Amino acid sequence: MGVHWVLPGLLLLATTARSEFTFNIVLPPAEFSVPFTGKTSVRKHKKDALAALRGVHSRAVQPNLDSTGSDGEYSFNLIVDTGSSDTWVPQIGFMCFDLDRNPIPEADCGFGSRGFDISASKTFKPFPNINLNITYNSGEFLSGPAGFDTISVGGLSVTAQEFSVPNHIAWLGVNVTDGIMGSAFPNLTSVFNTSDPTKASAANRLAYDPFFFSAVKQKKLNNTMFSVALNRPSLDQDELNVIAPDLGILAFGGIAAVPVTNTTVSVPIEGYSARGGVTSTAPGALSLFYTIDVESLTFPGSENLTVSLNNTFIDTGTTFNYLPTDIAAAYNAAFDPPGVIDPDVGAFVVPCNATVPEFSLSIGGKTFTIDTRDQLFPLGPPVGNETLMCYTGTQDGGPAVATQQFILGTVFLHNVVATFDPFAGHLTFTQREKY
Ligand SMILES: *[C@@H]1O[C@H](CO)[C@@H](O)[C@H](O)[C@H]1NC(C)=O
Ligand SMILES: *[C@@H]1O[C@H](CO)[C@@H](O)[C@H](O)[C@H]1NC(C)=O
Ligand SMILES: *[C@@H]1O[C@H](CO)[C@@H](O)[C@H](O)[C@H]1NC(C)=O
Ligand SMILES: *[C@@H]1O[C@H](CO)[C@@H](O)[C@H](O)[C@H]1NC(C)=O
Ligand SMILES: *[C@@H]1O[C@H](CO)[C@@H](O)[C@H](O)[C@H]1NC(C)=O
Ligand SMILES: *[C@@H]1O[C@H](CO)[C@@H](O)[C@H](O)[C@H]1NC(C)=O
Ligand SMILES: *[C@@H]1O[C@H](CO)[C@@H](O)[C@H](O)[C@H]1NC(C)=O
Ligand SMILES: *[C@@H]1O[C@H](CO)[C@@H](O)[C@H](O)[C@H]1NC(C)=O
Ligand SMILES: *[C@@H]1O[C@H](CO)[C@@H](O)[C@H](O)[C@H]1NC(C)=O
Ligand SMILES: *[C@@H]1O[C@H](CO)[C@@H](O)[C@H](O)[C@H]1NC(C)=O
Repeated sequence: MGVHWVLPGLLLLATTARSEFTFNIVLPPAEFSVPFTGKTSVRKHKKDALAALRGVHSRAVQPNLDSTGSDGEYSFNLIVDTGSSDTWVPQIGFMCFDLDRNPIPEADCGFGSRGFDISASKTFKPFPNINLNITYNSGEFLSGPAGFDTISVGGLSVTAQEFSVPNHIAWLGVNVTDGIMGSAFPNLTSVFNTSDPTKASAANRLAYDPFFFSAVKQKKLNNTMFSVALNRPSLDQDELNVIAPDLGILAFGGIAAVPVTNTTVSVPIEGYSARGGVTSTAPGALSLFYTIDVESLTFPGSENLTVSLNNTFIDTGTTFNYLPTDIAAAYNAAFDPPGVIDPDVGAFVVPCNATVPEFSLSIGGKTFTIDTRDQLFPLGPPVGNETLMCYTGTQDGGPAVATQQFILGTVFLHNVVATFDPFAGHLTFTQREKY
C-alpha cells in the first residue's frame, strides 16, 4: 500500500546508483526463499468493500516473520509491502480505533494474533523516546514505540533490526495477518525522534534501514536483490474467502523460482524531486518507492488515448492497478457488459461472468500481458439469487498529472516475476509462463 510521506525542504546526496542495463539478463537463483500463503480476503459485506479497496485488500502476501530469541520464538504473518518501508507488529494490549479515531474493541482491528509482548522478549531492545507515526493511503494509521530485535524471514536472519510495536492502531484487518514488512526505501520510513507521536514532523524524522537493506548491509546476501512471484488465487478462493496455501514465493538474493518466458527487462527505479513530489532522475533525487515509467498500455479502445505513465510504482501491498482516470474509464468501458462505478463501493464493477478485454503494457521496450482472470475480483460470496458482482482489476487512480502516483498492484504482479534491486537502482520484470 502507499503511504503518505513528508519531505523537508532539503536536498540530499544521491543515494542510489542508477540504471546499468544488461542486454542478456540472467538473474541468479535465490539464496533464501519463503512461500506466500494466506487469505485472499474479499470482504463479506458490501459495506466493507470500500475499505477493502483502499489497500487492505492485499492480504495475498503473507510470509512468516520469526522474531527469534533465546527466550523463544514469535512468529507473525506479515504482509510484504513494496509500497511502504516500516515493519511493525501490534504491541499486545494496543488500543484499536476506527478510521475516524473513535476507540473500538481490539478484535475489530482484525489482526491474526494479539500482538507482540515486548516485556516477554529478552532480545527486544527498546529505542527510548522514538516513535512510529504512519498513515496509509487506505486511511489506516498507527503510532507507538520503535525498537530492535532479530528478525528472520525464510531463513534470512537480520540482527538488531529496527521495527515498531504500535499501541494506537486503526486497522481494517481480516483476522489473518499481524502487520507489515515494509520493503521500500529507507527514506520512506516513518519513525520520529519524539516521545509524543503526535509531534511527528519532517524535522524530527529518523530514517532507518528496512529489513532487506539491513540484510544486505549485514552481508547476509551475495546478491543485492529480492524477488516476488505472486500466484493468482482461483476465483473460488476469492469468492469463498478461504485460506489459499500457495500464493507464490518471496525470494532473497536472486529470482523467485517459477517457470518464466524469455520476455524480461530491467528498468531504472526513479526517485523524486525533494520539493515537488514529481519523479526525477537528477542527482540527489530521493529514492522512496519502486517507481518506473510505463511506455504504453494497450487494450481495445486505447488507440486514441495518451497511454504513457510516469510516476507509477510497483506495489505488492495493493490489489488493483490504479491508472489515470481516462485510461481506467476507457478500459472498463471495453468490458462486456461495460464496467460501471458502483456508488456503494466507489469502484468499477461488472457481473463476474463479463467478457474481459485484453490488456498489455510496455515497459523498457518489452510487452507484458495481464491474464484476463486477474481483472475480476468478486465483491463477496453471492447473496441468494443475485448476480455475482466483481471489481474489475483496473481502477481510477486519479488525473494524469505529474504529482499523481499510479500503482501496478497484484493484478499486474500475478503475471511476472518482479525482482527488486534497490542497491543497483533497477527493477527486473520477467513474464511468467501461463498458469
Ligand atoms: C555466498 O557465496 C559464497 C561463495 O560462493 C557461498 O559459499 C555462500 O553460501 C553464499 N551465500 C549464500 C547466502 O548463498
Ligand atoms: C474477525 O473476528 C471477529 C471476532 O473475533 C469477527 O467479528 C469479524 O467478523 C472477523 N472479521 C473477518 C473479516 O472475518
Ligand atoms: C534520507 O535518508 C538519509 C539516510 O538514510 C538521511 O540522512 C536523510 O535525512 C533522509 N532524508 C529524508 C528527506 O528523509
Ligand atoms: C533525538 O533528539 C534529541 C534532542 O534533539 C537528541 O539529543 C538525540 O540525540 C536524538 N536522538 C536520536 C536517536 O537521534
Ligand atoms: C502523527 O503525527 C501527526 C502530526 O505530524 C499528528 O497529527 C497525528 O495525530 C499523529 N498520529 C498518531 C496516530 O499519533
Ligand atoms: C523467446 O521465446 C519464443 C517463444 O518460445 C521464441 O519464439 C523466441 O525465439 C525466443 N526469443 C529469444 C530471444 O530467445
Ligand atoms: C480513434 O480515432 C479515430 C479517428 O478519429 C476513430 O475513427 C476511432 O473510432 C477512434 N477509436 C476509438 C476507440 O475511439
Ligand atoms: C512523462 O515524462 C516525460 C519526460 O520526462 C514527458 O515527456 C511526458 O510528457 C510525461 N508523460 C506524462 C503522461 O506525464
Ligand atoms: C430472486 O429470488 C427472489 C425470492 O427469493 C424472487 O422474488 C426473485 O424474483 C428472484 N429473482 C430472479 C432474478 O430470479
Ligand atoms: C451472466 O449471468 C446472467 C445471470 O446471472 C445472465 O443473465 C447473463 O446472460 C450472463 N452473461 C453471460 C455473458 O454469460
